[in-house]
Amino acid sequence: MSQFVPLTEITAAADYIRSKTNHQPTIGLILGSGLNSLADAIDTPDIIPTSEIPHWPVSTVPGHVGRLVIGTMGGQTVLVLQGRTHFYEGYSMDRVTMPVRVMATLGIDTLIVTNASGGLNPSYQPGELMLIRDHLNFPGMAGNNPLRGPNDETFGPRFPDMTTPYDVGLRTLAHRVAADEGFELREGVYAYVAGPSFETPAELRFLQFAGGDAVGMSTASEVVVARHAGLRVLGISSIANMALPDPPPGLILGHEEVLEMGQRAVPRLIAVVSGVISRLHEAS
Ligand code: HPA
Repeated sequence: MSQFVPLTEITAAADYIRSKTNHQPTIGLILGSGLNSLADAIDTPDIIPTSEIPHWPVSTVPGHVGRLVIGTMGGQTVLVLQGRTHFYEGYSMDRVTMPVRVMATLGIDTLIVTNASGGLNPSYQPGELMLIRDHLNFPGMAGNNPLRGPNDETFGPRFPDMTTPYDVGLRTLAHRVAADEGFELREGVYAYVAGPSFETPAELRFLQFAGGDAVGMSTASEVVVARHAGLRVLGISSIANMALPDPPPGLILGHEEVLEMGQRAVPRLIAVVSGVISRLHEAS
C-alpha cells in the first residue's frame, strides 16, 4: 500500500459526504482553535461528525470538535470544518491536508482558513485580526511539504506556483468589509511552526527576524494543497496572545489562555467571514 494518501481514499470521503447532504458547497471554511462558534452562523445545516467519514484525520485537540457543518451563509453554500488536525498530532502532512483535497473534489473553489496565533509583530494586540498576506512554511521548507510524494496531476502540477498564495481580490474585499463594519484588519506574514511546544525566546526572535508577524501551528500546509488544486484562498489569523521574545516576567503561555483570548476576536471574525461570503461577487 502507498505510504501517501491515495486518490481512492479522497474519493471515498467525498462520496460519503455527498451521501449525507443535498447541499453543494462552493466555499470551504476551516475554523481554528476557539473559533467554533462561527459555525453557529450557518443556516439549514447538515452536520457530519468527522469520525464517520472514511479515512478522515480525526482531531484529538481540546477545543476542536471534529465535525463538518454544511449549509448556507450570506446566500452561498458553505462547508465548514470544525476541528482541523495538526501535524503535531502525529498524522503525516498529506493526511493533515486531506480535507482540502476532499473539498476540491466536492467542487469547492474558494477556501477561507482561520486560526488562532501568537503575535510576533510588537505593534499587534491580542484580540486583533490579521489577514494573511504570505506565509513562512517552516516544516515545508524543512522537508514536510504536504505535496511530498508522487504528484497527482488530477489535482495540480508537480511544481505549483506560490507567488500569491493568498488572493489579492479576497483580501481587498475583507478590508472593505471590515471598514464598513467600523474596524481595521492587520495584514501580515504567518509563520507556520510544527509545535506542539510553544516557541522559546530565541525561536521567537528568529521568527521575527525572518519576517513573521504572527506564529501558529496550522494553516500553511492546507494553503499549499489548496493552491496546488487552484482554489482561491483567504486566510485570517486571530491574535490570541503575544509571542514576543522578551515577555513580561512571570508570563506563562498555555492552551487555555489561547482559547480564551481567541474568543475576543470571534464577533469580528464572524463579521468579516460572513461579509466576504455574502459580497463575494465584489471580489475582483
Ligand atoms: N505560538 C504558536 N502557536 C500559537 C500561539 C503561539 O504563541 N498562539 C496560538 N497558536
